Amino acid sequence: MRSVESIREDFPVLKRVRRDGKPLIYFDNAATSLKPRQVIEAVKRYYEECSANVHRAVYELSQEATDLYEEARAKIARFIGCKPEELVFVKNTTEAINLVAYGIRWSAGDEVVSTVMEHHSNMIPWQIAAERFRIRLRYAGIRPDGTLDLESLSELVGRRTRLVAVCHASNVLGTINDVRRIAEVAHENGALLLVDAAQSAPHMPISVKDLDCDLLAFSGHKLLGPTGIGCLYVREGVEEEVKPPFAGGGMISRVELHGYKLSDMPWRFEAGTPNVAGAVGLAAAVDYLTSIGMESVREHEKRLTERAIEILREIDGVEIYGPMDPERRCGLVSFNLRGVSGDLVAALLDERENIAVRSGLHCAQPLHRILGVQSSVRASFYLYNTLDELEAFRRGLKRISGELGRRD
Ligand code: ALA
Repeated sequence: MRSVESIREDFPVLKRVRRDGKPLIYFDNAATSLKPRQVIEAVKRYYEECSANVHRAVYELSQEATDLYEEARAKIARFIGCKPEELVFVKNTTEAINLVAYGIRWSAGDEVVSTVMEHHSNMIPWQIAAERFRIRLRYAGIRPDGTLDLESLSELVGRRTRLVAVCHASNVLGTINDVRRIAEVAHENGALLLVDAAQSAPHMPISVKDLDCDLLAFSGHKLLGPTGIGCLYVREGVEEEVKPPFAGGGMISRVELHGYKLSDMPWRFEAGTPNVAGAVGLAAAVDYLTSIGMESVREHEKRLTERAIEILREIDGVEIYGPMDPERRCGLVSFNLRGVSGDLVAALLDERENIAVRSGLHCAQPLHRILGVQSSVRASFYLYNTLDELEAFRRGLKRISGELGRRD
């Protein structure tokens, strides 16, 4: 991998230094990532030099915009190992999952099997679909070590299961799920598998073929790309089971006053003017990550996670959630300091060390209830984070623990 120091040079936000001289330490990458100047410049270039709409006109500028947009799609498709026509541009992971929840041609009595470790984006759409379409939602549990209880999932999946919807990596526990095994269980029972890859696609190599999933969702903004752009992979043929929930220009090939014919894939799911600048920016992000290598990104984050866990284990009264083995988790660690609220820990890390971590429920309220905690603090890493930054984290936490921690 390129040196972390040289990678850091590409991220303008990392140049922020506070009045007290402390540089920004950004450990909230699971919420959103920072953007390298290559991405910022690609978006700016599109607006400055092109800026036309796509798929609608014959003049040169519009053709150029269309080429940029479709080249971006092809590049991002290669990044996850699918064909361009299997990759739909959406706003983010949440929109991708909603598209499926509202679009599937459900029959009353169909079942969706999900897990209790999902964030709300992969939970509320199914709850609303259950209310609307009279389908049933069931949840597989977790084991005490924060890994998915595959046996409970296998028992829930049966001939009524239409869809299994699971995260590839949990945004709280960090657990990386055995998606291939889950795919076997789903497919043996004739169900589709949807993978929420919001926390995995930015951080490890992804191949939809290896995962053997039918649908996969991720956001651009967590993957060094702009906000407002994300992707839904739809395995060839699966589109026939999903009716586009959004309609308008760009998604039809013929229109009568009382009838229409849908466009081919993937445009049938892209009604209205798409986020061209977002797609171009996301393609630049994919170029950036590809040039570094996703294996290297993963290895780097594993080292950081291992060190973060070591630091947390050194501190009295710290409770860590999720599996301890860095091989089994993505680059994030959620924890609590006994007797101290998560918000206070986060505020003090910010105040004293200029460290940005997320505290609260991380859009995963049911999971926190199952863990038996009111909230947690989450440190999440990316390719530009360093072991030195973790030393500041250690210093900050030791001080907070010394001053406020309860040791009973
Ligand atoms: N789901 C995002 C997070 O975990 C927003 O922070």
